[in-house]
Amino acid sequence: MNIAVIGAQWGDEGKGKVVDLLTPNVSIVARYQGGHNAGHTVRVGGAEFILHLLPSGILHPGVRCVIGNGVVIDPVALFSEIETLAAQGVEVGDRLLISDRAHVILPYHRDLEALSEARRGDQRIGTTSRGIGPTYEDKAGRRGIRVADLGDASEDGFLASAIRANVSARNEALGGPEADWRALHAEVRAAWRRLAGWVGDASVFLARAFEAGERVLLEGAQGTLLDIDHGTYPFVTSSNATVGGICTGLGIGPRAVGSVLGIAKAYTTRVGEGPLPTELHGAEGDLLRESGREYGASTGRPRRCGWYDAVAVRYAVRVNGLDALAVTKLDVLDGLDEIPLCTAYRHGEGLLTEFPASPAILAGCRPVYERLPGWSRPTAGVRRYGDLPPEARAYLARIEALSGVPVAIISTGSDRADTILVRGGLVDRWQAGRARPVSQPRPPAFNAGSS
Ligand code: GDP
Ligand code: IMO
Ligand code: MG
Repeated sequence: MNIAVIGAQWGDEGKGKVVDLLTPNVSIVARYQGGHNAGHTVRVGGAEFILHLLPSGILHPGVRCVIGNGVVIDPVALFSEIETLAAQGVEVGDRLLISDRAHVILPYHRDLEALSEARRGDQRIGTTSRGIGPTYEDKAGRRGIRVADLGDASEDGFLASAIRANVSARNEALGGPEADWRALHAEVRAAWRRLAGWVGDASVFLARAFEAGERVLLEGAQGTLLDIDHGTYPFVTSSNATVGGICTGLGIGPRAVGSVLGIAKAYTTRVGEGPLPTELHGAEGDLLRESGREYGASTGRPRRCGWYDAVAVRYAVRVNGLDALAVTKLDVLDGLDEIPLCTAYRHGEGLLTEFPASPAILAGCRPVYERLPGWSRPTAGVRRYGDLPPEARAYLARIEALSGVPVAIISTGSDRADTILVRGGLVDRWQAGRARPVSQPRPPAFNAGSS
């Protein structure tokens, strides 16, 4: 019944577009990890929406949205996002539920992040500077402040003493002008008055929704290779962007997850620091960046670009148990004479076919490329599988063979309409209400029987 959308690379795979596409078939969309480090773009007609903290399903009238306990929330960023959406004609109203167990990002988290990045020097992560890491650190360090705590008004209660202790630690770490805990306490109390109407127990809400037979879309942020456990540590975000984050980040059981759809670009990008085996420096990278408009949806930073990395995506298939892939931005490869695709890494004298744990080894890996012919005509805006040039179909078939799962969606442009739904594939069947459980045989490859 339910479906999860997970990034199969280093984030920015086009999750927002896919979530928007699937939302008409659900009544609830839930975010389970990350925070406003995410930037999920949805284009409909001429309008562009960028969602950071709110689930992308909010754009669909009547759909309810959940921000789970695994998400970290900056109330100021949330209010600003709600206002931006209102200015674009989208009202959140009473369609939002924020978990009372979610941790809160406060200004001292951003200050501490700036300090930590500066101290790391050339080993910096290249974070989004949103305070995400320090907030998850406080959560693990058991000194974090959760949404439920914000209701505590007393000057000597839990909230006040936690803010006082955390601000004092911040002042000690940073030196210079001190932050004032009383002013922050007052700000947080004011935020609570605005938030309170949206706060509740998300796990109970979802359990009731499941009982009532409602369908839920689980919207991941970041991507598998940015996951705190399975990503290119330490150059990762601080949450579980992989499938396990769904259960811990929402308070639901594994059977509620349903089908798992991985999103992968037809090439690779990454923002921030850390190894990227297929990275292209120079003209080829610039070409992908410009044709793909690869600039961060949250920070505007240029994204590093490279060819499709089948080792990385196959890894994402395994650690998430992906049922199928959505391949986005196929159109960006239009016009190339040949398209390299990385099938393994060479490291020293050895050949690696599994993604290595060590960043030092990964940094020393050289991609082994297979070269496929470019397409004879463009794919931009193609909406029927049969209208794709044969070379593009061959490229997708190779992605399927190397990843071991079928391609269920092909995206040929940023607009909602520029999409091919593979007939008989996972999403096609799911939309028809007949999605098969994970344990059943996989559907035939899309290239053998699509329209
Ligand atoms: P997300 O974080 O995974 O939701 O992805 P982002 O929104 O950060 O980045 C994806 C970018 O690619 C956005 O600007 C989308 O509008 C755009 N996009 C998505 N799918 C396609 C596609 O098939 N073709 C092209 N050209 N752009 C796409
Ligand atoms: P969406 O959901 C791409 C990257 C940052 C940095 C690292 C850690 O839009 O795909 P953080 O601020 O999380 O501590 O930064 O993770 N990063 C993303 N890269 N897409 C994202 O989100 C990202 N969120 C974080 O650039 O390298
Ligand atoms: Mg993004």
